[in-house]
Amino acid sequence: MILRNMRESDLDGVLAIERAVHAHPWTLGNFSDAMRSGYQCKVYESETEGMLGYAVLMLAVDEAELLDIAISSRHQRQGLGSKLLSEMLALARRHGMRRMVLEVRASNVSAIALYRSVGFGDIGLRRDYYPATNGREDAILMGKAL
Ligand SMILES: CC(C)(COP(=O)(O)OP(=O)(O)OC[C@H]1O[C@@H](n2cnc3c(N)ncnc32)[C@H](O)[C@@H]1OP(=O)(O)O)[C@@H](O)C(=O)NCCC(=O)NCCS
Repeated sequence: MILRNMRESDLDGVLAIERAVHAHPWTLGNFSDAMRSGYQCKVYESETEGMLGYAVLMLAVDEAELLDIAISSRHQRQGLGSKLLSEMLALARRHGMRRMVLEVRASNVSAIALYRSVGFGDIGLRRDYYPATNGREDAILMGKAL
């Protein structure tokens, strides 16, 4: 498996995964803006199977914010999300970050379990933060010291 910079030519593949795994996916514009803004936009791939997933990390002073992370549906539950997250934690440490934070939908049990499994703890709650199919949904803020 390798982690490499996301390129414009990856965006069709990234969006295909994004739309398949998220109820409220990022748009092409969101990914393009993230790349243009100099965020750490990484593709996780294998030589034999191509793109497995991707992650977007924003570095700010000494705190990194994980803005998106996904593994393609057919590759989930094989430990790849944990590996990709570990790679992003290592990347943040290499850039001198002291903490990683993220926001996650309260209903996203798989992501919350993944984050807890690598040591993220709850640091806050934003009520009715996200639009949801039936009204609004809370965001859980999580963080981990690096
Ligand atoms: C969250 C996500 C990246 C996890 O990727 P993954 O490759 O399936 O995760 P892993 O196989 O490494 O699982 C690691 C741990 O996370 C937890 N987990 C992952 N999927 C889970 C599920 N469906 N239900 C419960 N726990 C789950 C488990 O604790 C798991 O450890 P275990 O397999 O030993 O029980 C993946 O489900 C995904 O892409 N989801 C859609 C996008 C998303 O919601 N991203 C996060 C918010 S931005």
